[in-house]
Amino acid sequence: LSPSGQLVTTCLGASMEGFSVLVAWNETQHCKILDGLVPDQLQLCRRNLELMHSIVHAAKETKGVCQKTFSDMRWNCSSIEYAPSFTPDLMKGTRESAFVYALAAAAVSHSIARACASGELPICSCGSVPSEVPGPGFRWGGCGDNLRYGLQMGSAFADGPMKSSKAGGQATRLMNLHNNAVGRQVLIDSLETKCKCHGVSGSCSVKTCWKGLQDLSEIAIDLKSKYLAAIKVTHRHMGTRKQLVPKELDIRPVREAELVYLVSSPDYCTKNPKLGSLGTQDRQCNKTSVGSDSCNLMCCGRGYNAYTESVVERCQCKYYWCCYVMCKKCQRTVERYVCK
Ligand SMILES: *[C@@H]1O[C@H](CO)[C@@H](O)[C@H](O)[C@H]1NC(C)=O
Ligand SMILES: *[C@@H]1O[C@H](CO)[C@@H](O)[C@H](O)[C@H]1NC(C)=O
Ligand SMILES: *[C@@H]1O[C@H](CO)[C@@H](O)[C@H](O)[C@H]1NC(C)=O
Repeated sequence: LSPSGQLVTTCLGASMEGFSVLVAWNETQHCKILDGLVPDQLQLCRRNLELMHSIVHAAKETKGVCQKTFSDMRWNCSSIEYAPSFTPDLMKGTRESAFVYALAAAAVSHSIARACASGELPICSCGSVPSEVPGPGFRWGGCGDNLRYGLQMGSAFADGPMKSSKAGGQATRLMNLHNNAVGRQVLIDSLETKCKCHGVSGSCSVKTCWKGLQDLSEIAIDLKSKYLAAIKVTHRHMGTRKQLVPKELDIRPVREAELVYLVSSPDYCTKNPKLGSLGTQDRQCNKTSVGSDSCNLMCCGRGYNAYTESVVERCQCKYYWCCYVMCKKCQRTVERYVCK
């Protein structure tokens, strides 16, 4: 069973094995390195070799950002390491897979849009000059991220393979496509005006501004809120086609801005490989937090063990004119807590 055949997530697996650093991506046979590609994906790779650096970069970023964003949660995105052999938490149309697909889709477009602006790609360059009239005190200039090209090629990579009938069940495909679009919408909304000051000794009498994307970690924070508010859907026949509708409130269609899932997740408290749950035993928790990383919530009421750890820090730093800082090394004991 192909894990819904998404190239981006397939790259996750490949990039993790360190191939990406060795591969020049200048010969079509390099595409074979990515294990488990379906023919459509192989073709996409061969035809867009110059984009593969950006794709692999996006896959790595997706992994790192997902784990950072979920480090305070019971499900901490560690199963992404096993890509492309997905564990059930990422295979079965869960809320967690909704987040990962949305993030990966945003990441690919993000990575391509930025690569265009940084001149890494011969086929694209800076984004077009914004049509809005610049505000007082600045003019458009610099080089904006090429969101248009990023979205165009990012969609081809993230969605294309899912349009093939081999990519899992129809409901899962609809779910993934929907969540990919949500990820890209959050990316679009993250576009902001960035400026640089000119003028005598930084007086900022002249400003040039351009449209740039926020970092992927910011986009992931938005998507995490959407993950927490995600809604369960089911699919329904609409003539010959199928459509997703909310399971509980099926009087309204699914909104474009919400993440959707088909299968409820376990609570991730205890280890259960069948459900893709690693459990939270030995996870670190925060005794003073009241959030999801609190010992109560993280340890699911099982309690925790305390231990002390000594950490070495820089301390008593002094500034010496001119221009360096010297510090001492201090040892400090900290209490840590891990779930029983
Ligand atoms: C691809 O890049 C490698 C390493 O830079 C080089 O040795 C090889 O000749 C290149 N292949 C082509 C077809 O340009
Ligand atoms: C995530 O959770 C698993 C299972 O409890 C644990 O083994 C792993 O170390 C955690 N990863 C991080 C980065 O905290
Ligand atoms: C624990 O949580 C508190 C309150 O949210 C926070 O101020 C503190 O930095 C956290 N400690 C660690 C080790 O993360």
